Amino acid sequence: MRILKSSFAVVERRAEHAVKFFYSHLFWHNPGIRALFPVSFEDMERQRDRLFAALTHVIAHLENESLLPYLRDLGRDHRKFLVGPEHYAAVGSSLLAALAEASAGAWTPQVEKAWSEAYQVMADAMTAGAGASEDPPWWDAEVVRHLQYGQDIGVLTLRPHAPLPHLPGQYVSVSSDRVPTTWRTYSIGNAPRADHTLDLHVSRIEQGRLSPALVRDVQPGEMLRLGAAGGQLTFRRADRPVSLIAAGTGWAPIRAMLEDLAQHPPDQDVRLFVVARDAAHLYDRPLIDEYAAAFRWLGVTYITPAPGQHRNQATDRLATALSNRGLWPDQDVYLSGPPLFVDETSYLLEELGARPGRIFYDSAPAAGRGHGPGGRPLGFGEWFLNRPSPHWHNPSGRAPREY
Ligand SMILES: Cc1cc2nc3c(=O)[nH]c(=O)nc-3n(C[C@H](O)[C@H](O)[C@H](O)COP(=O)(O)OP(=O)(O)OC[C@H]3O[C@@H](n4cnc5c(N)ncnc54)[C@H](O)[C@@H]3O)c2cc1C
Ligand code: HEM
Repeated sequence: MRILKSSFAVVERRAEHAVKFFYSHLFWHNPGIRALFPVSFEDMERQRDRLFAALTHVIAHLENESLLPYLRDLGRDHRKFLVGPEHYAAVGSSLLAALAEASAGAWTPQVEKAWSEAYQVMADAMTAGAGASEDPPWWDAEVVRHLQYGQDIGVLTLRPHAPLPHLPGQYVSVSSDRVPTTWRTYSIGNAPRADHTLDLHVSRIEQGRLSPALVRDVQPGEMLRLGAAGGQLTFRRADRPVSLIAAGTGWAPIRAMLEDLAQHPPDQDVRLFVVARDAAHLYDRPLIDEYAAAFRWLGVTYITPAPGQHRNQATDRLATALSNRGLWPDQDVYLSGPPLFVDETSYLLEELGARPGRIFYDSAPAAGRGHGPGGRPLGFGEWFLNRPSPHWHNPSGRAPREY
C-alpha cells in the first residue's frame, strides 16, 4: 500500500505525460482497441482525466471496503463500451509501461510488482463484475416522443427493449449512433412507470458532442443506447423536513423524486426551489404549480431574475431564499444542477448550517465542467451569465414543439 501511494505521488506530478504515453502505447501495440474510444481529441482528453480520476480513486480507497463494489460496477458498465475480458491484459501492460516511464529512476522491481498486483486486483474485480451481471451490456431504447422547449431543451421519452431498473433521482448513460462511442449521463426525469418508459431532460450545450444531437436531431422511432442506472441522489425517507433545490435540467431527478413523493406522501414538509435564468425557462412550471396546489406538504419557490434585470440577480435571490428558509441543521437537502451550481450551493448551505452528511447530490467528474478564462472553473455567477451561447428561449411561453 505504502509503496503504491508514494509511487502514485511521483506519477501524479507527471500525469499529463503518463496518460499520453499510456494511450500511444496502447493504440500502437493494439490498433484494434482504438475503435472502442471516442474519436475526438477533446474526448480523449476527458478520458485522460477520467483514467487518472479512477486511478486516484482506487489508490485513495485501497483499504476501503467500498472499492470492490465500485470496481465490479465499473466492470459491468464497461461492457457497454464493448470492452471484453481479453482487453484487460493489454491495458494492464500499457499502464505499467506508462507508470514506469513517468516514474523514471523511482521505478524499482518492488514498485513494479506492487503496481502489477494492484492492477490484477482491479482487472479481476472488473471482469468478475462484468461476468456476474444479469443486466444486458446496454439497453436499446426507442425514442417514442420528443418535446422541444425553445432552442435549448429537449425532453425525450424512451422505451427500453427490456425494463431498466431505476430509483427516482438516478441517472443513466446515453449514447447515439449519431455520435458513435460517445457516452454522457442524463438523469431520469420520472419515477418508475408501469410501461417502463423513461424521460430525459436534455439541455443543449452549444459546442457539445452529444447534447445538441439529442435536443435538435434525434427523432421518434430512432434508437439510443442506455447504460445501467446509477447515482446517489435517491430519496432517503427520514423524519425531517426536506428541501429540494433544482437548477436548469437539474430539475429532472427532482421531478422523479416528487412524482414518487406524490404517490407515497411524506409526513414532513417539503420545500422546492426551482432556479432558472428567466421565467420562460421554467419549462415544467405547469406541472409544478399543479403539484403545489394538490399537495399540502409541498411549498414552491421559483428563483429567476426580475424581468429586465441582470441574470446575476438570481444568484442573490437564491441566497436570500435559502437564508429565509432557515432550520438548515434539521433538514435533508437534495441538490441538482450544473456541477458548479451544486458546488457553490452546497458550500452556501453549509455556511447556513446545513449538515454536510444531509446534503445529497451526484458529483460530476471534473473533466465535464465548464471553464472560465484561463481554464479556471466557472463560478456560479459566471455559470449563470456566461454559459456558452445560451439562446434562452420560448419567450412567447408557447407550448413545446412535438416531433
Ligand atoms: C450525474 C449527471 C447527471 C446529468 N444529468 C443531466 C441532465 O439530466 N440533463 C442534462 O442536460 N445534462 C445532464 N448532465 C450533463 C451531461 O452528462 C453532459 O455533460 C452534457 O449534456 C454535455 O454533453 P455534450 O456531449 O453535449 O458536451 P461535451 O462535448 O461533453 O462538452 C463540450 C464543452 O462544453 C463544456 N460543458 C459541458 N457541460 C457544460 C455546462 N453544463 N456548462 C458549461 N459548459 C459545459 C465542456 O467542458 C466542453 O468544453 C449530467 C451529468 C452528470 C454527471
Ligand atoms: C483497471 C482497469 C480500468 C479502470 C480503472 C478503468 C476506468 C475507467 C473509467 C473510470 C471510465 C469512465 C467511465 C464512464 O464515464 O462511465 C472508463 C471509460 C472507458 N474505459 Fe476504462 N477502465 C479500465 C479498463 C479498461 C479496459 C481494459 C478497456 C478496454 C480497452 C477500457 C476502455 C474504456 C472505454 C472505451 C471507456 C469510455 C471512454 C469515453 O467515454 O471517453 N477500460 N474507464
